[in-house]
Amino acid sequence: MSRAKIIAFANQKGGVGKSTSVVNIAASLGVLGKRVLVVDVDPQGNTTSGFGISKKTQTSTVYDVLIGRTSARDTTQSTPFENLSVLPANISLAGAEFELVMADNRESRLRDALSPLAEEYDYILIDCPPSLGILTINALVAADGLIIPMQCEYYSLEGLSQLMMSVKQIKRRYNPALTLTGILITMYNGRLNLSAQVMDELKKYYAGKIFSTAITRNVKLSEAPSFGQPVWYYDKYSRGAALYHDVAKELLQRI
Ligand SMILES: Nc1ncnc2c1ncn2[C@@H]1O[C@H](COP(=O)(O)OP(=O)(O)OP(=O)(O)O)[C@@H](O)[C@H]1O
Ligand SMILES: [Mg+2]
Repeated sequence: MSRAKIIAFANQKGGVGKSTSVVNIAASLGVLGKRVLVVDVDPQGNTTSGFGISKKTQTSTVYDVLIGRTSARDTTQSTPFENLSVLPANISLAGAEFELVMADNRESRLRDALSPLAEEYDYILIDCPPSLGILTINALVAADGLIIPMQCEYYSLEGLSQLMMSVKQIKRRYNPALTLTGILITMYNGRLNLSAQVMDELKKYYAGKIFSTAITRNVKLSEAPSFGQPVWYYDKYSRGAALYHDVAKELLQRI
């Protein structure tokens, strides 16, 4: 049996398309025949609700898993989407930051919790909150690969070097195998000069790392979550569905 490849989607900047990317890449990987588990480690629970799972009615979530109250297997939920399961989160996870401060193995709790599931999935995608706190650290310690969704804005580059510094520390201290799988450009507008400039700058430093498909703005991508569906199920023939499907195929080549 092969082990799942675990990929964290992280960027400490808010609103760059992390959750949108996780939901839609996961759905496409499932459609492509891969067994996928999505782990939501953001107290906002956007990925959880993006799959139509209510944040309010959860009896146990990834929070209970991190504090050792339940197992990842018992907390995982199936979805109506092909080959796709979810380990949900809700606002209760906001307490984890505080509660884990004094805990043993606080950086590797997610890795340890997911390890018994590794043979049941082909891919485990982890959606991180917009910070470099203990939840994102747990995701990066658990992960084989990192995908950084980012917008082509000037400040994105500064944020990126800060993130890569944290990644370096995590590699050194906890997870030497962690690799940058790719940078995914989101909400791209090629007609803006600034976007093109930032893209050129990015290519200087991360040439082979940028996904060849950039995600442009597409209204279906912003509508789909309110229907609790990945865009593939909401509107299969939309531009957003096609773009994320291409990214998922590219991901299969990258890791
Ligand atoms: N390609 C796109 N086209 C149109 N809207 C998009 C696109 N990508 C993301 N959005 C919208 O932008 C907003 C932010 O996206 P998203 O929630 O995925 O970002 P995030 O990085 O997960 O945010 P946070 O840091 O708060 O977790 C959402 O309202 C989402 O629907
Ligand atoms: Mg998010």
